[in-house]
Amino acid sequence: MPGIIINALKMGRLCIMDEGENTGKKDDMIGKLGYAGKLILAPMVRAGTLPLRLLALDYGADIVYCEELIDFKLLRSERIENEILGTVDFVHEDGTIVFRTCDKEKNSVVLQMGTADAKRALKVAKLVENDVAGIDINMGCPKDYSVKGGMGAALLKQPDNINDILSTLVKGCSKPITCKMRLLPKMEDTLDLVKVMQSTGVSAIGVHGRLKEQRPRHQVNCEAIKVISNMASVPIIANGGSGQIIKNFEDIEKFREMTGASSVMVAREAQWNPSIFRREGKHPALKVVKDYIKYAVDYDNQFANTKYCVQQLMVGKSDEPEYMRLLKSQTLREMCAIWKMEDYFDSVNKKRKEVEKVYKNRVEAVKKLKMDDGSTLYRIHLRYDKKNYNSLMTPKVALSEWCQTNKLDIPVYSMDENADRLYQATVKVDGEYFSSTCWEKNKRFTEHGAAMVCLRMKGAHDGSLDTNLEHKNVQGKDLAQKTEPEDRLQSSATGS
Ligand code: FNR
Repeated sequence: MPGIIINALKMGRLCIMDEGENTGKKDDMIGKLGYAGKLILAPMVRAGTLPLRLLALDYGADIVYCEELIDFKLLRSERIENEILGTVDFVHEDGTIVFRTCDKEKNSVVLQMGTADAKRALKVAKLVENDVAGIDINMGCPKDYSVKGGMGAALLKQPDNINDILSTLVKGCSKPITCKMRLLPKMEDTLDLVKVMQSTGVSAIGVHGRLKEQRPRHQVNCEAIKVISNMASVPIIANGGSGQIIKNFEDIEKFREMTGASSVMVAREAQWNPSIFRREGKHPALKVVKDYIKYAVDYDNQFANTKYCVQQLMVGKSDEPEYMRLLKSQTLREMCAIWKMEDYFDSVNKKRKEVEKVYKNRVEAVKKLKMDDGSTLYRIHLRYDKKNYNSLMTPKVALSEWCQTNKLDIPVYSMDENADRLYQATVKVDGEYFSSTCWEKNKRFTEHGAAMVCLRMKGAHDGSLDTNLEHKNVQGKDLAQKTEPEDRLQSSATGS
């Protein structure tokens, strides 16, 4: 049985009298997160990125779910600690950021995964488990791309696979596991499925009170959630009340009472105004928009995503001049200007540039290694970032062109692989060797990294679109001072 909920209106927020039923080790861990008696930001594709999650937490949410992330995509990502922003980024091999998180939400963020396979799900869980508070499996998404891949609502017809995925995760992952489901046409089938889910050791189950065919305009079935809540032995998180029942903070508790659930998860109302979680009442849209943009600037949130989310925050205001300017804006700075926040944008970016400079000087220290044959290997900690280049002018193309212009042989690349199946390329140009100290999942990226090192050493442009990058000759005075003393390299040219 879930704990006793104390009326949110009296307590100012939902909270739990601990009856000691959350006895599992993982629940103790998330106990700080604990799924009973909580106000939760629901998972929302596109909307549930870092700024909205942080804002929801500031306004009073206890737990925030990220947007659904597909297992395949996360498995093609690398975990990178972004020292400049103070975030942990999971960066896809195409250079896009799949998931960005930070310390502020570490004990409250749940990563929702789209998966159809237990082994894959566990691999993803191991990749992210130290950076999140919990992991949720989407079992309710009715969209084609999800269902065709056997994910989301497709799982509702596969109790064995549900059992396999959830048990594997509960056993193999150090963080609490949950799932979010929809109703089945027959109540008895729904209850059977809930029994399968809870038998795996999940810490809670989210229930969106609609069938997979139903849309938000259809009435949410509070009675069905109540039947599930009465039967379940794990906390049930009620969902689906936005607009129909939930319009203000007090309605969240009303919805919880109507459904007999332990906790409530809010999606659309929070997407339109995350201060729905504020017990003192919602803030006006203008304040929320400004608070949101601040986080978007602080965490360098992708512009298109920021624009989409701000549009959602201005729902019902599409005839206002600010909304028109928002639609026309093409950069985050332009968006800031709509609300006279350019100074904020400029000051954050000025500070960031200073941090970047210090960081760059640190990471770009040149290591110069003497090879057995007397040739030199130059190494710099440089990472290829796809978004800084167009497809026609990559570092490799730039290096080939530079060699041609200087009448040198074409660059020759070789590759090292380590025990983690990460790669490091070395390029030979004019009798000298160049490589980045970064290991990469993607062979092409590490070759670009090696080409960048070579071009940086030659003082040549590497094709980057980033006009802030200085392409000075690192053999010149400045960087020569940073060059570390020569080491003797015992192994082959590519060994390191
Ligand atoms: C969703 N929903 C959703 N559900 C999920 O499990 N994973 C997801 O990534 C998404 N993405 C998503 C995007 C957007 C824009 C919306 C509006 C909804 C469904 C959502 O979590 C929730 O179940 C429903 O919206 C019902 O809750 P509300 O809106 O009535 O509070």
